[in-house]
Amino acid sequence: MRNGYHLSQIVMHWFIALLLPIQYLTGGSIERTHHAVHMGMQPASSDILQHTIHNYAGLLIGAAMVLRLLLRVLQPPSPRKRLKGQHLAAALLHGSMYVAIIFQAALGVVASYVTFAVAPLHVIGSNVILAVVGLHFVAAAWHTLVRRDATLDRMMLPRSDQPRTWTVKNAKTT
Ligand code: HEM
Ligand code: HEM
Repeated sequence: MRNGYHLSQIVMHWFIALLLPIQYLTGGSIERTHHAVHMGMQPASSDILQHTIHNYAGLLIGAAMVLRLLLRVLQPPSPRKRLKGQHLAAALLHGSMYVAIIFQAALGVVASYVTFAVAPLHVIGSNVILAVVGLHFVAAAWHTLVRRDATLDRMMLPRSDQPRTWTVKNAKTT
């Protein structure tokens, strides 16, 4: 039986990880767009395009993160051996990524469609996400390069619930 996460959670993990940088590349266009409008000028078409991409990619990230959290509750990953302190640190870090990203997408929606007053919180949120994802990346690199354990495999190779001997056992009895 292979340890780790189900295929659906692995696909969504890497899908979100690929989309996230888009938010940092396009986020600055929103201020430029608003600034141009306030100055009575026509915003650059590239900024309008980036603004649109930011909103839709952000909505997709938020929805994917909620779905992933639901999948995780329904299909928890197989447990792994860790020291108590390490287990707590990983749980806190992983939990904070779910909370920060879902909250960030919700704040973006409020800033865009309800009131721009919450925009400064969205900017703070983007820095918080950078910090927690940065820590997460360092932890993954430490497991892979220093500890040389199979942590990364848990998020690369889908979990198999069937014991590996299943086919062999059945082949013998039939
Ligand atoms: C998890 C997903 C998201 C991330 C990581 C993210 C990240 C960012 C970043 C890095 C900026 C630029 C901040 C700066 O100027 O320093 C930004 C700005 C902004 N984002 Fe997002 N965003 C996300 C989702 C969304 C969504 C879903 C919407 C709306 C539907 C949205 C609306 C905005 C708005 C209105 C601004 C302008 C804020 C300002 O200039 O003060 N964002 N976002
Ligand atoms: C190259 C970058 C990344 C690498 C190498 C990586 C690697 C991993 C690995 C190996 C795990 C499994 C940890 C374990 O089983 O103990 C994991 C879990 C996780 N990753 Fe990443 N990750 C990356 C980027 C991201 C990004 C950008 C996000 C932001 C959404 C993210 C969010 C998460 C979350 C929330 C979990 C916990 C899953 C759960 O238990 O529900 N990761 N990651």
